[in-house]
Amino acid sequence: MERPSLMVANWKMYKTIHAARAFGVELLRRMEEDPGPRGLTQVLCPTALALAPLAERLRGSAIRVGAQNLDLGVEGPRTGALSAYLLRDAGAEYVIVGHSERRQEFAEDDDLVAAKVVEALKGQLTPIVCVGETRDERDHGLTETVVTRQIERVLSAVTPDREVVFAYEPVWAIGSGRTPTASEAEQVAQLMRNLIGRSWPGTDALVRVLYGGSVNRDSIRTFAEHTSFDGVLVGGASLDVDHWLDINRRWGEVRC
Ligand code: PGA
Repeated sequence: MERPSLMVANWKMYKTIHAARAFGVELLRRMEEDPGPRGLTQVLCPTALALAPLAERLRGSAIRVGAQNLDLGVEGPRTGALSAYLLRDAGAEYVIVGHSERRQEFAEDDDLVAAKVVEALKGQLTPIVCVGETRDERDHGLTETVVTRQIERVLSAVTPDREVVFAYEPVWAIGSGRTPTASEAEQVAQLMRNLIGRSWPGTDALVRVLYGGSVNRDSIRTFAEHTSFDGVLVGGASLDVDHWLDINRRWGEVRC
């Protein structure tokens, strides 16, 4: 089934509040001149600090805003924590969960990722759940095992009655300029779809599966043309408005 495309920009620890807002202003200006492909939703995920100012700037437009992480709980004595409730209040509609940088640098395990997905859904945020193998795991033929373990932990934690997004992000492809071939990526897309279909039957329209890892204006066509992913999650190449618009346009030329 054809699901509307989702294009997610993950700005990581880049862009001041001023720079994030300036990106939003420029993006809106450019889209006024040329609205680009229809049937495609853009989600910008700035730092938590830039979330509210960017969401404010984009209010009333078709562009959505997401957070890069959330913590458990709603309100409470948890110094430094940001809950789905607070992120939603700041204007987020989506939240990235279980990005490999958080799994590695902040020791987030499958249980915590699953708990965060539950919290995101409770807090009315659409989780974008990242899964993917390391280079070492791929070299040892463990891609399927790792992705299955990561995704099944989430699938067993919730029964979605609202949208959930998964992103296949091979850890070795992130920020490296290397990507799997279309057929390697497609194999994982099929695996994920099968696992989702088995655990959550009938949710086909609610669950999108994205690809992420060194997507840029050159590699985007391959994923659009030769895979069944419903969109992409883009880091480095999403920081520049021109580059980001090219990615969206090229995807849209094939898919929308
Ligand atoms: P990249 O990052 O596009 O810079 O590889 C993707 C991601 O980490 O989500």
